[in-house]
Amino acid sequence: MLPSCRLADGALVKASAPADRAGDRSAAGERSSVAAPPAGPALASGSAPAPPALASAPAARASADETVERFGKTVRWFHWTFALAFVFLAATGGLLALRTPLGLAPALARRILTAHEAAAVWLAVVPAVVVLSGNTREFFHELSPLVRWSLDDLRWLALQPFAFVKTITLPPAGKLNAGQKVNALAMSGLTVALAASGTVLYLRPGALAPLAVHVFCFLAWLPLFAGHLGLALVVPSTRPALRGMLTGRVSREWARHHHPRWIEDLEAREGAPPSR
Ligand code: HEM
Ligand code: HEM
Repeated sequence: MLPSCRLADGALVKASAPADRAGDRSAAGERSSVAAPPAGPALASGSAPAPPALASAPAARASADETVERFGKTVRWFHWTFALAFVFLAATGGLLALRTPLGLAPALARRILTAHEAAAVWLAVVPAVVVLSGNTREFFHELSPLVRWSLDDLRWLALQPFAFVKTITLPPAGKLNAGQKVNALAMSGLTVALAASGTVLYLRPGALAPLAVHVFCFLAWLPLFAGHLGLALVVPSTRPALRGMLTGRVSREWARHHHPRWIEDLEAREGAPPSR
């Protein structure tokens, strides 16, 4: 993920279990559910209902802790099972690459290599099982923005390095901004190259050309991952996205700020009569 702009944190994020389940069941393109703000003590205790003005939809929409579904369960489980294997592969691969300077005993290096190969099998199998046993349609729908590029995406990429200049406004981003699209495509390409060169290395240990490709892709992935991690865990304005990948939901206001075109589309669908 990459930042769309430099603004303060969004409002509180509230996960709602039933809405989450409903959201995950929803097929691709279906409207996202909205978690209503929590009932106040008066309502919860069964006393007089809130006045209509307070309970009205626009008021609820403006509520600071209203959330929208960002990622369904299939996407989230795919992301985390994939990330777990990938990070483990990078850690064990890094140890293998540094085995001589680290003075690793050959027996230990062999064990690390076995763990590396086992993680490669996990990477190839587990995320695929997650997708096939989950909401496959929704999953592929989530991937579709990666191949759909608009002029605004190109403008976003061109202007992003100058986003710190106050007079420059970035074009509104969709569900993924152009930086996230580039990141996702780059990580996918590197994964294919790592898997292919790794498979050749498994069959022909020590072969020079695939080893060079393998190590080059590993080194290219490191800064991408450092940026991804920094945005997910450190940068205050993008950190709320982590809740989206953990619980599935993010604050509507945060999303409106960082992904305005996505929220516009979502609200247009929310306002439209249910599709048959
Ligand atoms: C282990 C630490 C990781 C954390 C904390 C993390 C966190 C996140 C978060 C919060 C998002 C959602 C961004 C948004 O809603 O805008 C995301 C998306 C994504 N993650 Fe990760 N991730 C991790 C590892 C990885 C790894 C290892 C890969 C691939 C090798 C990866 C690939 C992606 C991709 C392609 C996306 C969608 C595009 C994007 O937002 O850049 N992630 N990640
Ligand atoms: C996805 C399937 C993968 C397979 C089948 C695979 C397989 C292998 C094999 C067989 C080796 C030993 C090479 C040799 O010494 O002859 C190796 C080494 C290595 N792998 Fe992978 N790997 C995979 C993914 C990855 C990933 C995702 C990363 C990092 C992001 C990675 C990083 C490394 C590194 C740094 C080395 C050490 C290279 C060296 O000896 O200098 N591998 N891999």
